[in-house]
Amino acid sequence: MRPARIGLLGLGTVGAGTVNVLRRNGGEIERRAGRRIVIARAAAREPGKTRPCSLEGIELVTDAMSVVRDPDIDVVVELIGGCTVAKDLVLEAIACGKHVVTANKALIAIDGNEIFRAASRKGVMVAFEGAVAGGIPVIKAIREGLAGNRIEWLAGIINGTGNFILTEMRDHGREFADVLAQAQRLGYAEADPSFDVDGIDAAHKLTILGSIAFGIPLQFNRVSIEGIRDINRADVTYAEAFGYRIKHLGIARRTPSGIELRVHPALIPERRLLANVDGIMNAIVVSGDAVGPTLYYGAGAGAEPTASAVVADLVDVVRTLTADPHNRVPHLAFQPDTLSDLPVLPMEEVETAYYLRMQADDRPGVLADVTRILGDLGISIEAILQKEPPVAQHQASIIMITHRVIERNMNQAIGMIEHLSSVHAPVVRIRLEHLNRR
Ligand code: HSE
Repeated sequence: MRPARIGLLGLGTVGAGTVNVLRRNGGEIERRAGRRIVIARAAAREPGKTRPCSLEGIELVTDAMSVVRDPDIDVVVELIGGCTVAKDLVLEAIACGKHVVTANKALIAIDGNEIFRAASRKGVMVAFEGAVAGGIPVIKAIREGLAGNRIEWLAGIINGTGNFILTEMRDHGREFADVLAQAQRLGYAEADPSFDVDGIDAAHKLTILGSIAFGIPLQFNRVSIEGIRDINRADVTYAEAFGYRIKHLGIARRTPSGIELRVHPALIPERRLLANVDGIMNAIVVSGDAVGPTLYYGAGAGAEPTASAVVADLVDVVRTLTADPHNRVPHLAFQPDTLSDLPVLPMEEVETAYYLRMQADDRPGVLADVTRILGDLGISIEAILQKEPPVAQHQASIIMITHRVIERNMNQAIGMIEHLSSVHAPVVRIRLEHLNRR
């Protein structure tokens, strides 16, 4: 059978990894796909640049659109990133009747609804396993492996750079900027690393996970997002004293009033497997009503881990090149005309537990004032710790863990506590997730 001919757009870290994996494992891949998969043409901004892969047999061009429009290309692999040029190329590939494989999380999270509509009209596939958690086949697991379940919630460490930074800060007391620079050198961080540390990258991935878990349209602009810039070593240490670790999580949860979609740092019990996912690694817990919690762990970034997902998508696409378009796995797991309009809840309506830390005068009545405010708003304290001030200072650190409460009430309580003349610094608030079965 004629080989499937791939047009590769972008020869950066993941592009080069994809070339290498396809070459090295070509025989195995052919046995799985049923035909040979060859990269026939590739587009790169700097074709003369030295790259960590052999380009033998690949026609290299600068004009990506010419690759997309080439009638000899069966599948377009988009590894350019971003939502401008990449979007035009993907939509043009679809218009030309070509299947698309992409690892572009921003493009899927922001423009995915439009792209999938166009693809459905044309009867082509847009596969995006590499967009979420690099090499972990979590899209396939949720969309196919868990198809018998009603998904209740998922929670994941879905940004390797952020997890690497938090792990290095905790284990080696390293500075934030120093660890970030290392992640950039290693090729883990986004082109704009603020996407990693401010939670944007994780929010792109969570948008996609939330949609395939609950069958809702992609709604990136409804995700509540908080990054890790404000996490400091004192909170990491106090969290450990209570038996928790701080992780940057993406959480999607079904509640009676709607769907929670949120990215923020959270304390999680140190005995949870997720609390022990360190460094660049990613992991996602997905809990279904039938199966209970399931865990997917692996490398969430890097050349070959992401290429692993891209090539798996290529195998899927090539296998279905001749299949009836109506019999394919739907892009967002649920048939497009059955997507639900469940609302995505604003952060104020989310219910979770909290870690609080405040600096307060070390004198009688201060703690009573704080606990009265919390009590009046129905906020129950689970644990409390007071660190005595150093000699000759008069402010103590008060650290608390609360039971679950609606965020609106906690915001109100924090506002009132910050108005107490005896409380000095802004109150530090980090959400806390027990990640229980339900
Ligand atoms: N910058 C991302 C991360 C790369 O650190 O996880 C994979 O999306």
